[in-house]
Amino acid sequence: KLARLRGLETGRLQLAVVTTAKYFIPHLIGEFYEQHPKLDILFRVGNRQQIIDYTSEDEDDFYVFSHPPKNPDLELVEFLPNRLLAIAPEKHPLAGRKKIPLEEFASGPFLRREEGSGTRHAIERFLQERHIDLNIRMTIESNEAIKHAVMSGLGVSILSEHTLAFGGHSGLSILEVESLPIITHWYLARRKSRPLSPAAAEFLEYARNLETVPVESGIAWPLSPNQ
Ligand code: PGA
Repeated sequence: KLARLRGLETGRLQLAVVTTAKYFIPHLIGEFYEQHPKLDILFRVGNRQQIIDYTSEDEDDFYVFSHPPKNPDLELVEFLPNRLLAIAPEKHPLAGRKKIPLEEFASGPFLRREEGSGTRHAIERFLQERHIDLNIRMTIESNEAIKHAVMSGLGVSILSEHTLAFGGHSGLSILEVESLPIITHWYLARRKSRPLSPAAAEFLEYARNLETVPVESGIAWPLSPNQ
């Protein structure tokens, strides 16, 4: 309790986060660090599969996923929402239309993330459940590169709102596609066998009490979920 009031004097916190989380985790760490400026904080970034691979090492206090693996060795704490939005170039014929049928959007051409990406995994699962195929034009290993490829007119895509919020989304339009956005959540995962250090316990408490990302997304929100 005393440590919480004064800030932890020393300690180390290590996180491994999926690429989509790299847009907002630094903002959370910034806020957390203000309360505990003496902590040594490290974080690494990878796609979902890379972070899953890291869970078999005993290096990180927490892993951040929106599609955590089913692994009984991990304890999961759900924290913030993650919405995956349909995007197109600004002047695309679908831009500004209401209730675009999912099939019409999926006829693309679509730019998808690489194998191992949690974003791709979520999109594929969502479309499979609805028996809809994508018309894939290209596979690109980065959220930013997909954003720019969409801006340049190469195709449409679905990306996390965090990807669009930081670094801006001018040149893009967010489409009102039926049954989108895909709504998922962020999870803080930790190995049950790893002792919870005072720094990790503080961070867990901080994350549990979060209601929003401490930065406005700036995205006008025309969609009601599952409209
Ligand atoms: P990724 O991240 O697409 O970079 O793997 C998102 C996730 O795992 O949910």
